[in-house]
Order: sequence, then C-alpha cells, then structure tokens
Amino acid sequence: MSLTNQRVVVIGGTSGIGLATAHAAAEAGAQVIIASSRQSSIDAALGELSADTTGHALDVLDTRAVQAFFDEVGEFDHLAYTAGESLRLMPVDGMDIDQARGFFQVRFFGALSTVSTAAEHIRPGGSITLTSGSARTRPGSGWSVASSLCGATTSLAGALAVELAPLRVNVVEPGIIRSPLWSGMSPEDQQAMYDQQAELLPAGRVGEVDDVAQAFLYSMTQSFMTGTSVPVDGGALLV
Ligand SMILES: NC(=O)c1ccc[n+]([C@@H]2O[C@H](COP(=O)([O-])OP(=O)(O)OC[C@H]3O[C@@H](n4cnc5c(N)ncnc54)[C@H](OP(=O)(O)O)[C@@H]3O)[C@@H](O)[C@H]2O)c1
Repeated sequence: MSLTNQRVVVIGGTSGIGLATAHAAAEAGAQVIIASSRQSSIDAALGELSADTTGHALDVLDTRAVQAFFDEVGEFDHLAYTAGESLRLMPVDGMDIDQARGFFQVRFFGALSTVSTAAEHIRPGGSITLTSGSARTRPGSGWSVASSLCGATTSLAGALAVELAPLRVNVVEPGIIRSPLWSGMSPEDQQAMYDQQAELLPAGRVGEVDDVAQAFLYSMTQSFMTGTSVPVDGGALLV
C-alpha cells in the first residue's frame, strides 16, 4: 500500500488509532499532518513521528478553527478522522440527556464539520475515512448512546459517499482496541476488560491500534471502495 507523494491529514492523530494511522501512512510514504485539541499531545506525537510530519492544535468543535486549519493545509489527498473522547456507558433509565447529546459533539458533529470544510481541499483520487465501532451492530446493555453514535457515523459515511462522489468515503468499525481511550479506567480494570473480551472473541485477543491503522490505509489506497464500512473487531459480530 503506497502513499508516496500523497498528503494525509489525521484528525485525532496524536493518540491511539489516529497516531497508529499517522505512523502507518508515513511508513507508506505519505507526508502526514496531524491535529488534535491539545498542543501537548501534538508535541508528544511529533516527537515520535517521522521528521516531515507536521501538527496543529485544533479543537474540532471550533468551526472557525477548522476552516482556518484546512485553509492552511491547502490541497491534500486523504483524510482520516479518529477524534473522540472517553465515552461513559449509560443505562436508559434515568439517563442524563444533555450528557448523552454531548457525546455526539466530537465524534459525529466534529466529523461532519471537518468533512464539510475539508472535502473541497481533497485532490482527485483521494478519500475520507471516518471512525465508527462494532457497538453499532453489537451493543451491550447501557450502550444505547454509543451504539446510536456508531450507527449515525456509519450512515453519514454512506450518505457522504453519494453526495461527494467521486470522492470516496468509508468508515472503519473497530471492536475493543487497546488504546488510551480506556485510560479513565485503572490499569487493572483495563486489563480485566481486555482479558474478558479476549476470551469471548474468535480472534482470542482484543485489537491493537496497528490492526485498525491497516484498515485506514486500506480505505485510502483501495480505489474501488466507497460508501462502505470495514470491521476490525476480532470476530465480534459472531459472538
Ligand atoms: N479504542 C477502542 O476500543 C475503540 C473502539 C471503537 C471505536 N473507537 C473510536 O475510535 C476513535 C479513536 O479512539 P482511540 O482509541 O484512538 O482514542 P484516543 O487514543 O483517546 O484518541 C482520541 C484522539 O482524539 C483527539 N481529540 C479528542 N477531542 C478532540 C477535539 N475536540 N478536537 C480534536 N481532537 C480531539 C485526542 O487528542 P487531544 O486530547 O489532544 O484532543 C486524541 O488524539 C474514537 O472515536 C473512539 O470512539 C475506539
């Protein structure tokens, strides 16, 4: 999968799946631009990415900043959107609806705002890849908001693929992936969750961020693929 002479923008590219995607795109020959909300995350990520990678602090909830960011970036080839914050599972009974609404801000409306601004900057042959999750089709109890969010994002990718054609738009649907997203849990609780999931999954393990990065690269380089979702979930749909 070669991305030589191509420019790749990763929103959320300072941690977890986005950082792994930035590494993989750079290894495939791309010039990578990362963005996320905290300058400290940008500095840390640039410290480990290839020397020609650039980074900008950008809060996707600030629509003017999103516009200014893409004006500065100019033309590029592939957009990966992996921004998201820790999401609390909430039973429907007694749900805090304002908090539930808030969980759509970065993942869904941030993606929509980013695409709406970025699309005109993407060169012919380029692509957009969003992030959803296997909770779309395999929700557990308490996952109503998380599952709906994934469903909305996957549907968004399909609709964008139609509206923005021939620009390709796909979505990656990870299962449980070992990443800093879970750092709100204690290390012991994280490991217990990973172990429990590994026992359930046909793959016998949870995912690693590099597993998911490969799906992002596939979406960027598979020129006949658009409007579809790529599951990377260790077989979660089967159990
Ligand atoms: N890990 C999993 O098991 C899993 C499973 C299914 C789906 N997903 C989804 O995959 C996506 C990435 O997850 P991850 O595991 O890579 O999480 P992560 O390691 O926590 O990375 C999240 C990234 O989003 C950035 N971000 C957060 N708020 C932002 C904002 N307002 N503006 C711009 N950037 C922002 C963070 O950087 P800053 O803090 O600097 O802003 C960070 O770079 C999320 O949407 C998550 O829901 C993850």
